[in-house]
Amino acid sequence: MLERLNPAAPDALLALIKLYAADPRGDKIDLGVGVYRTDEGETPVFAAIKEAERRLVTSQASKSYLGPEGDMGFVEGLMPYVFGKDDPSMGGRVQGIQTPGGTGAVRIAVALAKAAGITRVHLGVPSWPNHAQILADLPLEMAPFDHACADGTANADAVLQVIRDARAGDAVLLHGCCHNPTGIDYTPDQWHEIAAALAASKALPIIDLAYQGLGFGMEKDAHGLRAVLAAVPEALVAYSCDKNFGLYRDRVGAFYAVAQDGSQLPAIMSNAAALARANWSMPPDHGAAAVRLVLEDEALTAQWLDELGTMRRRMRQVRDRLAAAGRVGTLDLTALGSQNGLFSMLPLDKDRIARLRSDHAIYMAGSGRINIAGLTQGNLDKFIGALADVAG
Ligand code: LMR
Repeated sequence: MLERLNPAAPDALLALIKLYAADPRGDKIDLGVGVYRTDEGETPVFAAIKEAERRLVTSQASKSYLGPEGDMGFVEGLMPYVFGKDDPSMGGRVQGIQTPGGTGAVRIAVALAKAAGITRVHLGVPSWPNHAQILADLPLEMAPFDHACADGTANADAVLQVIRDARAGDAVLLHGCCHNPTGIDYTPDQWHEIAAALAASKALPIIDLAYQGLGFGMEKDAHGLRAVLAAVPEALVAYSCDKNFGLYRDRVGAFYAVAQDGSQLPAIMSNAAALARANWSMPPDHGAAAVRLVLEDEALTAQWLDELGTMRRRMRQVRDRLAAAGRVGTLDLTALGSQNGLFSMLPLDKDRIARLRSDHAIYMAGSGRINIAGLTQGNLDKFIGALADVAG
């Protein structure tokens, strides 16, 4: 029976981690998978998380089951950051559950949308490859539209057209901030246009907020999401703490439903809980419990926000240096300075990406995506020189 299985293509991004690890060259540069790195190339545990983990070890009396919704203190503790501190539950219209990372949250969001009658999901491309993989697995039809213009800015006309043309049964999956893989976000004005278009559309908004705090800060990075939520009757939100709390392998995320009316939430959330139960039963506790302890403690919260600010400033410095390089061979790096978060894309073909790897020990995704945080003051010159070599 099992011999009938054809080999599945490995996830290219995850395969890159292993290729990089196996390269013996001392000056190799990893611009592959999206993890933050310091200027020393480390991905340390946040000090605020370390302290929360210490407290968890001493205070946690039991590891007995919590249920498919996970740690509700964590889920509710995040809500002021996501939905705004003035009215985090939007008048009782928002509820959530904990999920294994942002992937689990996206999975619940699209599976719930499908159960509610969504048949097609519009997705700006390029997008995070797992978006398409999850939609294909459900399956749900994916309708692509162009996310970006050639000049490195967002193609707002494309998304507005899709929203205006949407029919009943359509959803639109949007990145809340720090677009993965392009780093190209809608401007605040464009978000307001998108919000107004969604308010008049049949499309259900699904917003993936996986990088809050890595662009302009926790408040500003929620601007687009909040503009949409203020305008539409209902929406679904997928949230990840993997990056902004540095908890990658602990898999910390949350799914939120924004209902037309709070009275609909028990039915909606019972479906979300049933999907969680069938997929993973209950989410892993440790990372979410650590985030909850950070959010419950004013001093730890301040420390976490400070650490997040340091990350953000370092990525801006890298972007500024890349932008200052301007034209490098056939490439123009200027637009990278006004993009956000961990990623940007370089218009390099497969041969050039392969040459960067073979000749310069530089590892990046086959799409041309680079992880900005893989660049440091120590390796930026080498990187720009290598680009000049392959794109000359
Ligand atoms: C990435 O895009 O590199 C990250 O979101 C990690 C992942 O799960 O793909």
